[in-house]
Amino acid sequence: RLGYSDTAYEQLPTVIAHRGASGEAPENTLPAFELAASQGARWLEVDVAISADGQAVIFHDERLERCTDGKGWLLNQNLEDLQHLDAGLWFGKQFRNTRIPTLAELLDFAEEHDLGLNLEIKPVIGREAETVWAMRQELIRHPLHQPVLLSSFNTTALKCARTHLPHLTRALLTEAIPRDWQQRLQDLECSGLHFCADLIEPAAVEQIRTAGYRALAYTVNNPDQALRLYDAGVNAVFTDFPQRLLKSATIP
Ligand code: G3P
Ligand code: CA
Repeated sequence: RLGYSDTAYEQLPTVIAHRGASGEAPENTLPAFELAASQGARWLEVDVAISADGQAVIFHDERLERCTDGKGWLLNQNLEDLQHLDAGLWFGKQFRNTRIPTLAELLDFAEEHDLGLNLEIKPVIGREAETVWAMRQELIRHPLHQPVLLSSFNTTALKCARTHLPHLTRALLTEAIPRDWQQRLQDLECSGLHFCADLIEPAAVEQIRTAGYRALAYTVNNPDQALRLYDAGVNAVFTDFPQRLLKSATIP
């Protein structure tokens, strides 16, 4: 066994809804989470960032333009201003008046719907500790009985998580699998590596699994690709279309 937490992975499903059912509803919003849950997804992956006033919110981009009717940098806006933005209309008229969710709202939703969470920490450089601290506050206020897995591309954020949320399982996010993956996982005390599915190297996945770590791949919207990844030893895939992958009877 690894010397640090991998408890969240013990309840890992093979399919994780990426930003919710983000292929069919606006990513990282309650409608996308509701749709994923109704389609049978057991875990959600979401992106966690902080507002100017230090509140943890669910949002992917650094800027507001792509997914809201706002402009500028997320980190320059207070929570109250962010909550006036429409985060659904860009995806379709039926999603008008959808708001950027707070982490608190997501945690309540996950508890109510019995969903595991992969919280990807998306900090602004220099505000990693503040982001992790804001997450910690919400996780204390809204205790969740479901598994919570933290991940990040940002190693400072992972180190902060190790300090401030030591009981939560951590994963390192990368694009390609780095040659020194084992050293990096050990240094950060991460129990999994989440990498880009298109850049998979099966031999490396086998080594990762043999060494006792988990290998997860993003973003996989094609059931045949998912099957090839599972065959190569990948434990779970992130998908924008959970129903499509869950419906495929041959998925383990
Ligand atoms: O956590 C997997 C995946 O979401 C990482 O990339 O850009 O979709 O947040 P991105
Ligand atoms: Ca993400």
